[in-house]
Amino acid sequence: MKIMEIEGERNLSGTIRISGAKNATVALIPAAILTDEEVTICNIPEITDTEALCDILNALKVDVKRASESIIINPEKMENIEIAESFSKKLRASYYFMGALLGKYKKAVMYFPGGCSIGARPIDLHLKGFEALGAKIQNEGNKYIVEAEELKGANIYLDIASVGATINIMLAAVKAKGKTVIDNAAKEPEIVNVATFLNNMGAKITGAGTSTIKIEGVTHLGKCFHEVIPDRIEAGTYVIIGALCGNPLKIDNIIPEHIDSLLSKLEEAGVNLEIGADYVLVQKSEKYKATSIKTAVYPGFPTDLQQPFTVLQTQCNGKSKTTETIWENRFMHIPYLKELGANIEVKNQTATIIGPSKLKGCEVVATDLRAGAAMVAAALTAEGKTTITNVEHILRGYEQIVEKLTNVGAKIRIKEI
Ligand code: EPZ
Repeated sequence: MKIMEIEGERNLSGTIRISGAKNATVALIPAAILTDEEVTICNIPEITDTEALCDILNALKVDVKRASESIIINPEKMENIEIAESFSKKLRASYYFMGALLGKYKKAVMYFPGGCSIGARPIDLHLKGFEALGAKIQNEGNKYIVEAEELKGANIYLDIASVGATINIMLAAVKAKGKTVIDNAAKEPEIVNVATFLNNMGAKITGAGTSTIKIEGVTHLGKCFHEVIPDRIEAGTYVIIGALCGNPLKIDNIIPEHIDSLLSKLEEAGVNLEIGADYVLVQKSEKYKATSIKTAVYPGFPTDLQQPFTVLQTQCNGKSKTTETIWENRFMHIPYLKELGANIEVKNQTATIIGPSKLKGCEVVATDLRAGAAMVAAALTAEGKTTITNVEHILRGYEQIVEKLTNVGAKIRIKEI
């Protein structure tokens, strides 16, 4: 087991370079099997979720090479083998193999995906989309057999603008016969990145980034070169850390528009920001105004930054509120923030935070990935030493977090115990 130790209250100054987006990467890797030719994807983050997907590619006899920040995937000798539960349960995004295998072979056999326990996380919308395209679904316990004689384009309306369902349906539909229209599609930048990748391979997708995506089925997808967009959630996490400890901290290699909602909220709180073309410079202030947030689908305030943002709210003057609308169980970090000294009450899906509170280091748990990011932000702010357990969650999504923070002056280390 790994633990993280952080000595807080240090000023952080310098530059943190943001890596490729986890939530784009985890869809791009499965999407790459839709061709029989070699694809190269660069700006791939070195996180354990990437490794877990490469293990699945290896199990499917896909040739995978890693070269610095790139990955070269060649599915020429691939076989459509059942994906074992031990692989699928390592991460949520394993479910993208369902859409990709269905799109390529018209058959996918795999188990219910894993991922953070932040809610029930059903996959009914993915399955309904596959059915609309002509697939039949058999369900044996945790195992899903999704199969079609032929995939035919269809009009699909998503009851919820789900990121995963939008991408999975795109993957299944790119090679279907005729035209597919996804209405109430999710609009996240990761979806645009995946659609661009598929188009680079020869797909005909329009409208990605809007709520209507149109896919004209093609028979062949070929080789291509593609780049992962910068990780907006990693960027947002470090901008929040900058607001707590930056003196100043430059968050570099980002697309600031992707975190517009966060930057507006930080400005509302009185955070000192310089927003450049591909960076944000952030300087800690002594006093922040209470600021409330409500999570929403893109371009609303991202649920994935809600947990780190609550740490900033503990340092704001007065009463701030955070309302979580996407996941039912995304306040698991709150009891640990309270142990660190925060004054927070949770009622239904709203946390009320009264600040500012002096945080003092103690032992806390990273209950999920972004709760872990919140613990890191809180530990960097707190007086004394904080020990974080379940660090594996954090390493699923933050590339070289110890190195990046050490380089700007943090006292942080990971210990194997
Ligand atoms: C993606 O999850 C991200 N994960 C999540 O990030 C992120 O929190 C989420 O989108 C929302 O932005 C990946 O990209 C791998 P959804 P996803 O389908 O696709 C309900 C992180 O920390 N729903 O948009 O699983 C669902 O229960 C992770 O990096 C259904 O009811 O999210 C939720 O309430 C955590 N049926 C809402 O929709 C379905 O079939 C949005 O989920 C699918 C979803």
